[in-house]
Amino acid sequence: MSSNLLQLIARSVNPGAGKLLSDTELEYLLGLTNETERNELYKAAYQVKLREIGSRVYFRGLIEVGNRCAKDCYYCGIRAGNRKVERFQLSLEDIKVATEEALELNYGSVVLQSGEREDEAYVAFIEEALTLIRELSGGALGVTLSLGEQTEEVYRRWREAGAHRYLLRIETTNPVLYHKWHPVGCDFERRIGCLELLRKLDYQVGTGVLIGAPGQTLKDLVGDLRFFERQDIDMIGMGPYLVHRDTPMGQEVLEANDGREPDNFDLALNMIAVARLLLEDVNIASTTALHALRSDGRERGVLAGANVMMPNMSPLNHRKDYHLYQNKPTAVDSTLAHTSLVESLRQIGAEVGFGVRGDSCHYAKRRKNNS
Ligand code: 5AD
Repeated sequence: MSSNLLQLIARSVNPGAGKLLSDTELEYLLGLTNETERNELYKAAYQVKLREIGSRVYFRGLIEVGNRCAKDCYYCGIRAGNRKVERFQLSLEDIKVATEEALELNYGSVVLQSGEREDEAYVAFIEEALTLIRELSGGALGVTLSLGEQTEEVYRRWREAGAHRYLLRIETTNPVLYHKWHPVGCDFERRIGCLELLRKLDYQVGTGVLIGAPGQTLKDLVGDLRFFERQDIDMIGMGPYLVHRDTPMGQEVLEANDGREPDNFDLALNMIAVARLLLEDVNIASTTALHALRSDGRERGVLAGANVMMPNMSPLNHRKDYHLYQNKPTAVDSTLAHTSLVESLRQIGAEVGFGVRGDSCHYAKRRKNNS
């Protein structure tokens, strides 16, 4: 391994040093392929995480509320145009059961995620779900929403009903790629505007990108990191692009690779690690997409600097209909999956932050600086 690289990594661990990394250095770190070198990068990112946040990993119980979607994103398995998907929508009773399970397992937060819908019936349903969650937990549970683009009024209603974090992935910050990956009508500027609205309404704001999707370069990923930095983002949820064969992008990728699926696992870990070096105190999720590629993918995400996991609490009978991509792990009972995840985290020296919300440290500092 070159001593320059070791020096670069060692330097980046110091407080505030990530901010001094140049675009060229970020790109170089993102592009590491040698295993020994990558492990050095992950160790450094893990150190920064320990210093800024500690060894705890926060769990959010993920509730997949429904798969009806108004959008037709070319990569996504639940896009409106995919006729093969059986559409579902949870009832308030389903949400109650999932929330109670999260409470029983002593999770500090839940996430409500679904396809993008802006109709009033849905907006009001989410409001009711938020009120229910607040009642069930006596206001103790943190609630993240991941429900796409909405108007300021809707974001405000949901904030008032008890949501305090919002995850809206920008998917890519290169407008040319954005337009390649999405049909006409998906408005890049609106999506950025939504992130700004969410911040104005005092949400903890999360975003993220697909990693390794067609046409994307390391320079694009550097641009994404700079976007997170500029937008003063509190949370990041990002993962490797995975093929779903019933999508236009999935078809195109399979044809170009003689039917083989690409493996963006290492690149995704690199992106997590470099995001940690650069942004230091944000919450970073170790996403299900990592788990889809490796059985220990999420644990390796933690060792590369992530500090949040979103174990699935959705009713088992609907999980097969929430396939954003192929090979999404679905079949396991939440409590069993929970027990083995806690154990595997213990084995890597991470403890779970039970019973606490695990809010973004970056958000707390950002608010203090603004007051
Ligand atoms: N591969 C990886 N991630 C995907 N998502 C959607 N489709 C795919 C795919 N094929 C992600 C998007 C979206 C999130 C809910 O799931 O980034 O924001």
